[in-house]
Amino acid sequence: MIHEKALRRTNRRIIKAIHQEFSTWKKGELELFIHRVELNLDKLLVQLHALYHDQPDWYFFAEKMVIEAGKSWSKRTKALKKLDEERERNPTWFKSHQMIGGVCYVDLFAGDLKGIESKIPYFKELGITYLHLMPLFDRPKDENDGGYAVSSYRKVYPPLGAMPDLKHLAKVLKKEGISLVVDFVNNHTSDEHEWAMKAKSGDEFYKDFYFFFPDKTIPNQYEQHLREIFPEIRRGNYHQNKETGEWVWSTFRNFQWDLNYRNPEVLIAMAQEMLYLANQGVDVLRLDAVPFTWKEMGTNCENLPQAHSLIKALNAVARMAAPALYFKSEAIVHPDDVAEYVSQEECQISYNPTVMAMIWESLATREVKLLKKSLENRFYIPGDCAWVNYVRSHDDIGWTFSDEDAYSIGIFPEGHRYFLNHFFAKDFSGSFSKGQPFQYNPTNGDLRVCGTTASLAGLEQALALNDEGRLKDAIHRIVLMYSVVLSIGGIPLLYLGDELGMLNDYSYENDPHKKGDTRWVHRFSMNWDEAEIAKKGEGVSGEIFHELKRRIFLRKEIPAFGNGSIELVETHNPHVLAYLKEEGKQKVVVINNFSEQEQEIRCWLSIGLDRLTNYQVDLNGTVVLSGYQSMWVELGK
Ligand code: GLC
Ligand code: GLC
Repeated sequence: MIHEKALRRTNRRIIKAIHQEFSTWKKGELELFIHRVELNLDKLLVQLHALYHDQPDWYFFAEKMVIEAGKSWSKRTKALKKLDEERERNPTWFKSHQMIGGVCYVDLFAGDLKGIESKIPYFKELGITYLHLMPLFDRPKDENDGGYAVSSYRKVYPPLGAMPDLKHLAKVLKKEGISLVVDFVNNHTSDEHEWAMKAKSGDEFYKDFYFFFPDKTIPNQYEQHLREIFPEIRRGNYHQNKETGEWVWSTFRNFQWDLNYRNPEVLIAMAQEMLYLANQGVDVLRLDAVPFTWKEMGTNCENLPQAHSLIKALNAVARMAAPALYFKSEAIVHPDDVAEYVSQEECQISYNPTVMAMIWESLATREVKLLKKSLENRFYIPGDCAWVNYVRSHDDIGWTFSDEDAYSIGIFPEGHRYFLNHFFAKDFSGSFSKGQPFQYNPTNGDLRVCGTTASLAGLEQALALNDEGRLKDAIHRIVLMYSVVLSIGGIPLLYLGDELGMLNDYSYENDPHKKGDTRWVHRFSMNWDEAEIAKKGEGVSGEIFHELKRRIFLRKEIPAFGNGSIELVETHNPHVLAYLKEEGKQKVVVINNFSEQEQEIRCWLSIGLDRLTNYQVDLNGTVVLSGYQSMWVELGK
């Protein structure tokens, strides 16, 4: 617990320090900044105290953090300051049925940042209002984990452009009503980051930015409780650095060095990088690998309370110096742990890996019971926050459902994960899927799955077999999954290229820097010729493009889909998932058939209009859905 009176004294000291430091500012500016500091200072101090109270100089770091925040705010453009005020008035601006997300790699989608700008008409054609550009900052040239090894947060990776391009892009996107999302890889830097280079050369100040161990004694003690993320590439969470001979904590790859947040200098330095990016006009920072940022001996070093404190501290700083900036969390862990990161004080937006994995699970089993259980028990987040619901991301699919949920409906979790991995990425006979296995861990049998939406959904197989029936099913599966993410609430996120049914790209196997990381199989280059064909409505891609686009724009007419909460509706059919969405007087029942067979349901509701077909449906009687059909039934219409 923090001492209340001491907190008040600390507050007063920091406000005084602001007056001194910024005495030359215009009165109005100073008042506004102080107002924001006053609103958020307690929040910051409580978190810093929780993190650093055992370090007697922690107060000085607190003061420095606020002063740095002030310096950064004074560099913010007029336009961004205006946006700050708008978003303060409307802190749930991202919660709307108008929101549609898209994600792509800058190089694979459009060559460079200027190329991305030239694709704005395409984004608009798809209704996109939130654009996540995959890591675009400086990185080691050869191996860099798709950019998740950042060498400088202030420099764009030269082949993609330069910082002014990013700033310009942010501005142009904003004019077009598109928010810019970029990654803030805050768990680690690359081993070529200036801090890491100085650490390698023996600079003690920077060595303390990372975790160095003279031998494996302590690492081995930690290791007993740690997970391994890339066990096929390297066992354990450490590697021996060539330059110093010491062991360095590197949860992911050898060239990704975990930051030592126990050192308050690291948090201050990262807060400055964060504010720098906010000042370039970035709207949302995707906080990468958030579970891993704090280490504590004897724990698995994931999702520790301090990992939350770190984000809350960064959030308090953002509210002071860049209130238009929002956070999206990337925590691909147990569903309950995922939800813990979501609040206005922490991350306002979060990936929903559970819904993602469970829609695939339902396609494999043709049953919705585990998806339903997960929605029943694990979908809730605070009303002023939003899930990002998605079908595929640039990463693997892990079966992160809750074991308790599975047991409660008679599913044995371990066996089920084994089945799912075999179904999607191995040799399950009768599977429609063409995925690849990712990072098998021989110690515990863990495995994950890679592949594009289309290949995992059966399109690759159907095309290879030239089978009309399978082709139809595959297309229907893709459309069904996107129908779910478009209707379930939160921000739906399109993995750009899915609208064309892009297949697996096996060429990564010939690249020595990518080989062995099967995630590259679904990181394809955008096929713009195909996009032209699709836009004309021709061929398989045309069918998918047309149907997804139609549903995207229909979603934008249905305010109930912007509401984050759902109410499950009983369908009396194990293959069909239904939920009710409400906003004001609008009530829409969404019904999804996860099997290729026709299904009958009974929900004892009233008559409504299926917005997808414009036919009236009587939900008070028996309703028949064709294979993989969805209905968006607006009641009372
Ligand atoms: C996140 C990214 C993933 C990356 C990892 C390490 O999980 O999504 O692609 O490998 O963090 O940065
Ligand atoms: C993430 C996840 C893990 C994923 C990995 C690499 O942080 O926790 O499931 O496989 O990064 O993609």
